[in-house]
Formats: sequence, structure tokens, C-alpha cells
Amino acid sequence: MLLAGCAGEMSIMDPAGPAASHQFWVWWTMLFVSVVVALAVIALWLYTFRRREQPQRTPRQEQRIMLRLVLGGGILLPVVSIVALLVFAAPTGRGMLPLPLPEREAERIEVVGHQWWWEVRYPGENGEPDVVTANRLMMPAGEPVDFRLTSADVIHAFWIPRLGGKRDMVPGRYSTIRLEADAPGVFGAQCAEFCGAQHTGMLLHVEALERNEFDAWLADRRVPPGPIDDEDAAVRAFGEHCAACHTVAGFPEALIDDEAAHGIQGPDLTDIGSRPTLGAGVMPMEEDAIAYWLQHHQTLKPGNRMPPHNHLDAETLQDIGAWLETMEP
Ligand code: CUA
Repeated sequence: MLLAGCAGEMSIMDPAGPAASHQFWVWWTMLFVSVVVALAVIALWLYTFRRREQPQRTPRQEQRIMLRLVLGGGILLPVVSIVALLVFAAPTGRGMLPLPLPEREAERIEVVGHQWWWEVRYPGENGEPDVVTANRLMMPAGEPVDFRLTSADVIHAFWIPRLGGKRDMVPGRYSTIRLEADAPGVFGAQCAEFCGAQHTGMLLHVEALERNEFDAWLADRRVPPGPIDDEDAAVRAFGEHCAACHTVAGFPEALIDDEAAHGIQGPDLTDIGSRPTLGAGVMPMEEDAIAYWLQHHQTLKPGNRMPPHNHLDAETLQDIGAWLETMEP
């Protein structure tokens, strides 16, 4: 069980960025020093068993023992402890500073925590988010990224263990954490603050890409989606049953049953067909996975905020699922 923590996409023992590497070495050094201290304490303790009968001591010997106690226990050990704490404070404090920026500005990505999924927003030219996706975070590798964090409901925490420490996502407030991935790769992320029934089902798939691939990925999502066929049965069913809570960019407004709801309750589904998982990491995306999810989501992720679809027949759900699978740039 212990060794299982040494690898995997969420292991802090396998750092993949400067912030995580720094924490990793501080952690190992602290462990090493703690083990030395623990062994020293155990050795001293065992030493006290050495001689059980009390010898007769002269007043001079008593005095010497007293002096040793005062110098050792009262001065030496506390000074050593304070020095040890200061020695650790420096690298720990340095690790809490933001990573240094190279000449270019850090890429900025907004992440909003929801019960129990992640909204990820990429700012456009004017700073307004123009690409919105969910439960998957794409970032450029080899450069620092500023993650601007907040929450839509309760306190969540953003944590990509292989890239660095966590930061709380507090409703009504923005906080920023700067992380960097050394090289392209796939990393796991997990909400790290208990936020309700599906706290464990709040996973985020993180992918670091080469800068040009990241730019291409983002550019693909900036292309306005093609026209959506408003005669299609699946599209009409989506408008009637799903669009009040979920946004699909370019969806015909006339088909939305309750437009006042703005489609912001649930994840944006504009590129759902290209995402690797469903239900914030609860099940892998594969053929017919969305239809299966629509029928069984309350069993797969009990308590999630999407109401059960018992009033819809399997065929309608199948149609909606099949149509959503085509949603990708
Ligand atoms: Cu969100 Cu725990």
C-alpha cells in the first residue's frame, strides 16, 4: 500500500513540475531529519534503562548532573529545534512564493469549482473567457500558468499533485496558483477540500501540451460551431430537456425550453464529444457512454445535481447521447 503511492498520475512522489519538485525535496529532507531525531530520542530513552539501581552520589556529582540537565534540556535541545525549524522555514517559504516568470507573461486559465465538477475558462483577446469547457484542463508545458480559482457554491480545492500544492477555491473570491509542467503529459487532479456527497467524484483530467499544440487546441475551440439542425429529433429533445441547464455554443435559442435558466447550472457541453471522461472522471468516454450516463448517472454518481431522467424513454436518451457525442471541434 505504501509503495502504491510512489507512482501514478496523482502521486506527489513523482513530481512533474518545479513547484512539486521543490515540495518533494523539502518533504524528503524533513522526513530524513525527523527520522534522525526520532532515532536519537529512542536511543536516549533506551540509555535510561542501562542502570536501574540508584547509585550513591556525592553532592558534587549531583551538581554536575543538574548542570547537564539545564544545559542540555533547557538550552541545547531547544536551540537545535529552533534552528531546525528555521532551516525548514526558508525552503518552505520559498516554495510558497509564486514561480518566477520568464520574459513572457504567464498563461492565465480560470477554474471554477462546482458541486461536483470543474468549469475551465480560457480568456480571449479582451480578457473575457471565450472558450469554456469542463472537467478537462489543457495547459501549455514548459512555462508557468496562472490558475485563477473560484467557486460557484461551496469551498473546493484545486490540486494537481504532480505539479504542486493545492489551493482553496472560495465562493465570491479569486485566488491564484502558479504551476508549471516540465514536459507534456497527462496528470490527475482532484478536489482536495470536502465539498459534499460527491467530493471524491470530483476529478479533473489535466493535459500539458507543447505550446504550439496548446495554441492549436484552443484555436479549434474558438472556431464558431457549424449550424445545428433544428429539425433533428435529438436536438429538439436536448432543447426541451437539457438546454436550460447545459450550454452548447450555437444552439438554436428558439428550441430552448427555459431560456431564462441561461444553461449555466451544469457543465458546458460544446466539446463534450472530445472529452476523455464523463461525470468529472467517473466513467471513461466511449461509444454510447453518454446515453448510458444519462440513464444511470444517479447510480454511477449518487447525489449528483442532475435530476434522474425517469420520465424520458430510453430511445430519446439514446438519441440525445448520440448527438452529444458528435459535439467536438
Ligand atoms: Cu469539490 Cu471536494
